[in-house]
Amino acid sequence: MQTLKEAVEAAWEGKIALGHFNVSDSNQFNAVLAAAAAAGMPVLVGVSEGERKFFGMRNIAALVRAAREAGVQVYLNADHTYSLDGCKEVIDAGFDSVIFDGSHLPMEENIATARNVVEYARASGKGTLVEGEIGRIGTSSKLLEVPPEDMDKDLTTVEEAALFVRESGVDMLAPAVGTMHGRLIGGGEPKIDLVRIEAIRSAVGIPLVLHGGSGSSDADLATVGKLGCSIVHINTDIRIAYRKGIEASLAADAKEIAPYKFLAEGVTEVEKMTEKYIRLFAGM
Ligand code: G3H
Ligand code: ZN
Repeated sequence: MQTLKEAVEAAWEGKIALGHFNVSDSNQFNAVLAAAAAAGMPVLVGVSEGERKFFGMRNIAALVRAAREAGVQVYLNADHTYSLDGCKEVIDAGFDSVIFDGSHLPMEENIATARNVVEYARASGKGTLVEGEIGRIGTSSKLLEVPPEDMDKDLTTVEEAALFVRESGVDMLAPAVGTMHGRLIGGGEPKIDLVRIEAIRSAVGIPLVLHGGSGSSDADLATVGKLGCSIVHINTDIRIAYRKGIEASLAADAKEIAPYKFLAEGVTEVEKMTEKYIRLFAGM
């Protein structure tokens, strides 16, 4: 099976993006795998610090290992990890990639810690990819009243991206290009700066990762893979789909108490949402 590095390189060569979907439990995990199988595409599952605490870091690592042994092309990413120690922990646990998120730090500090994570990952010999993040994308995958403050003022410049990548040695970069984590309650699509993506990708020469995919237009999301974002992250829409499915189930039968029954509709909704995005990113 391809390593994550090889899978991402193949995505770049094919001018598509791979889907990265956040999960909090094994139901969502199974739904993502089923969607990837239906689309016939590799897939990344991601767990943030909160998600992996709830799921159990070793539980999800074991599920991914088992799926891979069964021939499923699934990769495990430690999403938004805010400390060097947190990054070391997931590298030791065998994750395929980790995002050191120092985007809230001064540039020098962000670079210095990202470089330490890269050194640790290389020394581990496990091939863990390290992603760095700069600019403002917001922090939580939730329903928002208003966009995160200053978001539009802090888009990543080509110069910042080139400096960060050169000095830190990261394998992948998440720049701020107009998306945000979460979705606006009142609607409204963030406009992705496609020109900026292309300029940054050609300046840094490594794969870019688009965060905050939920809420952007399908047309933009179908284009980013061609320009240099080889992975696209979706979380909020997965959470909404799961909850809506479960709510519909409980509304249909308020007395149902069997989790495998009232959760099933949530799983189906997550699967549908995930497959839609995988196909969109892959131009299918
Ligand atoms: O890392 C997670 C993603 O960037 C999620 O973004 O909640 O807007 O889909 P989203
Ligand atoms: Zn993100």
